[in-house]
Amino acid sequence: MVEYDFSGQVAFVTGAAHGQGRSHAQHYAKHGADVVVTDIGHNTETVPYDLGTSDELDETASLVEDEGQNALAIEVDVREESQVEAAVEEAIDEFGHIDILANNAGIVTISDLVEMDEATWDEMIDTNLKGVWLPSKHVGKHFVERGDGGKIVSTSSTAGLVASVGAGHYTAAKHGVLGLTKTLALELAEYDVNVNAVCPTVVNTPMISGMTEAYGEEVLASMGELTGPFNVFDTEDPGIEASDISEAYMWLSSEAARYVTGIGLPVDAGFSSK
Ligand SMILES: NC(=O)c1ccc[n+]([C@@H]2O[C@H](COP(=O)([O-])OP(=O)(O)OC[C@H]3O[C@@H](n4cnc5c(N)ncnc54)[C@H](O)[C@@H]3O)[C@@H](O)[C@H]2O)c1
Repeated sequence: MVEYDFSGQVAFVTGAAHGQGRSHAQHYAKHGADVVVTDIGHNTETVPYDLGTSDELDETASLVEDEGQNALAIEVDVREESQVEAAVEEAIDEFGHIDILANNAGIVTISDLVEMDEATWDEMIDTNLKGVWLPSKHVGKHFVERGDGGKIVSTSSTAGLVASVGAGHYTAAKHGVLGLTKTLALELAEYDVNVNAVCPTVVNTPMISGMTEAYGEEVLASMGELTGPFNVFDTEDPGIEASDISEAYMWLSSEAARYVTGIGLPVDAGFSSK
């Protein structure tokens, strides 16, 4: 593991109850940051698998504390501006500042675009795109007012780079995250804020097991087309590990990447070179 020094810094992570968000929170803590762990903590209307729970969110907070760092757990729905704004204020009241925003929360649902109902489209765009903008807006405002720089890292996907058939709303949202990232990078550069995204291939998390249970192995196999040439995919043990994405988050959150801004970094086992 590469060593980073985030001591004295505070990271704010969305979707931290389990999966990649929990891993990111643990990684920030291992490298010395205090961590605000946030998650919706309950299931939603259109997602047919279990999202994170409030108990899992509390467990993530304990894992951060096990690393010797302070944790603050807040239930936040990233689709709701009032909740996001209140959570950012609570984090600043508790720690005095935020240095890093990790926009990780997300959902996946499967439907061809011509069959899709409006609720499925809306929930996807609200969660995976608006849910990146709202924390960026409120933490970004704090970065501007504080005048001491900052880092924003958001999770796009290989579906942010090419089409994912059967998930056009997900593809649109994840392409949107890259557009948002580039624009924010330009708007916040004068405040010394780096804004980047990560584009993972399939990652072995509760999202993938839940999606497979809900929609079947054929859907999982079709996601396997969004990876390689490194052979990281089989239906028994699909994809790369959450920690592979956390390592990219750590680098993009560190001063080692100080002149990197506005990019979508593929962590995709070579997929985007195909
Ligand atoms: N797993 C993959 O194969 C894969 C690949 C590429 C990109 N991604 C992206 O990575 C990110 C993390 O996914 P994961 O694999 O850890 O999924 P996951 O389902 O295991 O975890 C996602 C977390 O986000 C939370 N969440 C969902 N909606 C929320 C909302 N409205 N407000 C706050 N929290 C909310 C969930 O409760 C859950 O804890 C997502 O943005 C996802 O789209 C995943």
